[in-house]
Amino acid sequence: MKIFRFIPILVLLILVSALSLTSCKNEKPAATTDTTKTSTTTQTTPATPGTTSSVTLNDKAKKGQLLYYNTSLGKRKVACANCHTDGSSKTQDHQIRQGHTLAGVTGRTSTWNGMYKGDNLKKNAHGASLCAAIFQHRADITTVGNALSADEVDGLNEYLAAINSAPGAMTSDLKIQWVAKPTFNDDPPNDKLVKPVVKAIMKLPGDPKAGETVFSQSCGTCHSINDKKIGPPMVKAAQDMNNVAQTVRFGTGDMAFYAKDVLSDQQIADAIAYIQSQLGK
Ligand code: HEC
Ligand code: HEC
Repeated sequence: MKIFRFIPILVLLILVSALSLTSCKNEKPAATTDTTKTSTTTQTTPATPGTTSSVTLNDKAKKGQLLYYNTSLGKRKVACANCHTDGSSKTQDHQIRQGHTLAGVTGRTSTWNGMYKGDNLKKNAHGASLCAAIFQHRADITTVGNALSADEVDGLNEYLAAINSAPGAMTSDLKIQWVAKPTFNDDPPNDKLVKPVVKAIMKLPGDPKAGETVFSQSCGTCHSINDKKIGPPMVKAAQDMNNVAQTVRFGTGDMAFYAKDVLSDQQIADAIAYIQSQLGK
């Protein structure tokens, strides 16, 4: 019988998945646990020694690491770790983050699709200034350069250099697959750009069950259906499903966009179906 040939493979698969499950259980999810708290004290979640065993950190890099996990860096209480992995086991969880890995970023010759290159890379912690200004609400678009202090930039540069070869590092320049350059201010994106993007998502039949997973792995960092977290609750935010689709692809205010390689149209349609099922719409 042919089927017997597969039994050893099956056993192996079961073993491997059991192993990875148990190892996940021991991981503390990155920063997410702190982000829902509204306490005003500074909350930092330094990586526990040992989790980044292959990476040695000098004092500056350690400061940078604290910033990276700090959920109180800006008014929004969102940490770099919520949106980017650093390749350490702490951020190797099941979250789907809006931003790509920061491991390898110091090997890239340009970031933010060409917005930062040459001298501007180190001056802006490889583009982190823009994130701190807009997504963490530390400056506005006209004063991005002031979003991080010189010390903070220094620390982040050292930390980013230290994680340059962390697991999953991406050293080649990142081609961000946004549908349009984000506006980074309160101006809504151009209607002509928005319409076809929203239409493509809304015409897909969404599966609420699959959407529940998408929601918990991505939106769930910042949103719940009924309660305010980093972002508004869905009962308030999701009045109009076309607007939900638009927000996910283009971002809005402090919320970052999801590029096409981060969430597919189908995943967004599924998340919307889940939200609708929860709101009874
Ligand atoms: C709300 C989510 C969010 C937060 C918070 C955030 N970022 Fe980002 N960041 C993004 C997105 C989205 C991009 C676009 C490029 C991408 O997809 O990685 C980006 C881009 C970057 C880039 C440029 C990458 C490249 O090659 O183009 C760097 C460097 C960076 N972020 C560092 C940081 C650091 C350090 C922090 C904390 C101080 C931070 N970010 C906070 C979402 C975020
Ligand atoms: C890293 C945090 C973060 C993640 C992850 C996130 N959001 Fe948001 N979201 C926000 C914030 C912050 C706001 C409020 C933006 C503002 O008004 O400045 C927001 C606002 C919204 C709004 C209201 C838009 C409006 O027009 O007022 C919708 C809808 C929304 N998010 C949907 C989603 C969905 C769906 C997902 C998952 C696919 C998601 N968000 C993931 C932070 C996040």
